[in-house]
Amino acid sequence: MEYVASRRAGKWRRAWIAGLLAALAGNGSALAAVQLAAALPPAPASPPSSVQVLHWWTSASERKAADLLAARLAEEHIAWDDAAIPGGAGIGAGKVLKGRVLAGDAPEATQIIGVAIAEWADMGLLLELDNVAAAGNWQRFLFPTIQGLISHRKHTMAVPLGIHRVNTLYYNRALFAQLQLAPPRTWEEFESVARRLRAAGVQPLAQSGEAWQVSTLFENLVLAESGPEFYRELFVRRSPAAAADHRTAQALRRLRLVKGWIGGRPDERPWPEVVRQFARGQAGMMIMGDWAKAELAEQGQLPDREFGCAAAPGTGKYHLFSVDTLAMFAGDYSHMPAQEKMARLLVTPALQADFNALKGGVPVRRDADPARMDSCARASWTTFGQGAAVQAPSMVHRMATDEATRDAVIAEVHRYYLDERAQPAEAQRRLGALFRLFNLGNQGAPGAQDTDRRR
Ligand code: BGC
Repeated sequence: MEYVASRRAGKWRRAWIAGLLAALAGNGSALAAVQLAAALPPAPASPPSSVQVLHWWTSASERKAADLLAARLAEEHIAWDDAAIPGGAGIGAGKVLKGRVLAGDAPEATQIIGVAIAEWADMGLLLELDNVAAAGNWQRFLFPTIQGLISHRKHTMAVPLGIHRVNTLYYNRALFAQLQLAPPRTWEEFESVARRLRAAGVQPLAQSGEAWQVSTLFENLVLAESGPEFYRELFVRRSPAAAADHRTAQALRRLRLVKGWIGGRPDERPWPEVVRQFARGQAGMMIMGDWAKAELAEQGQLPDREFGCAAAPGTGKYHLFSVDTLAMFAGDYSHMPAQEKMARLLVTPALQADFNALKGGVPVRRDADPARMDSCARASWTTFGQGAAVQAPSMVHRMATDEATRDAVIAEVHRYYLDERAQPAEAQRRLGALFRLFNLGNQGAPGAQDTDRRR
């Protein structure tokens, strides 16, 4: 019954998608879009049991985690049709997704995260998962911030998979023991640890010059300099006054200082290579989201054994988060039974625990079992559980603002980072100008994690 009804809805949807494709394509190509939609294959008689999943989990550990999901779905007779797009932080995947949707070829499930969920939901292309969420009583066990992230205009628009802590500092335990160093809790301590490492002939920090990785360091520095309230002022509310503030200036100055501890010319290595450099003992420390912990396991390295993990300097009380979510494209609704089954499965306690153990993150569930977590994960899950006051949504990982603002800020910070002559005041002026531009006629990005306003 439900399926027949959804097929009928599918007819209406195909016409609607034609209109939307025309709008997206602009330039009077409405006719072509209508033809394209008409050319879509008719809904099959029995619902397909495969789900194509577009994502950016392509490193060795990410692949393992995705394969686990595929295996668990196979047990439920759903085939995972893999569409992986390389590129850390989904830089490539976002572009491929847009192209595919424009071509009328949306995958059934996609790694769409943070504010991007609201952007896609507003176009009316995503499947509402309200029935699954209500039947499974998701509200009862999800952290409130997670609930907020997946909801848009009172509808559940995505399935949450795991929480990553972006403010994670990794340090080489053998080196630290040998030099009698303690993990730095502040950026001042970081400076003295870095000096000692360099004196011992070790590069203090492993860090790529790739734009998104530089901005990840920058958002860590802003958080350390100020705290979640100011952080949101800057990255969620896009306040020009916050851009001009001395705390932003200080974070920019610190970024230059930290660059000095990396050694050599900035390169654009993908993040798994940075992890391997750290694993080889060629750098004493690394600051990266906890997906790096999973990649270290691929190198045979474990927390509290080869490496230690702590919060990035100055952010011990805070949780800078990126939450992985899968959103479903409605299409002609023929895949809906498989998509809903998939959504149900992904939030179950067992799958959440197993997936996150492989992926490096922590479950989105308040009732997860901390005894099953390593010390790194336990600290992340416990800190996140303290609520909005200690949480900061990662700008780089789309939790704070829309894609256009994010791309512009990342480019601006990168420019400043690469050009040694650029002054913090100039970068601040440019950030302020960007914010003014983006805020024109758009008071705050849709779905942004402005947890203060939410309360
Ligand atoms: C995602 C992670 C992923 C990381 C590196 C983040 O945006 O949340 O799942 O491992 O990017 O690509």
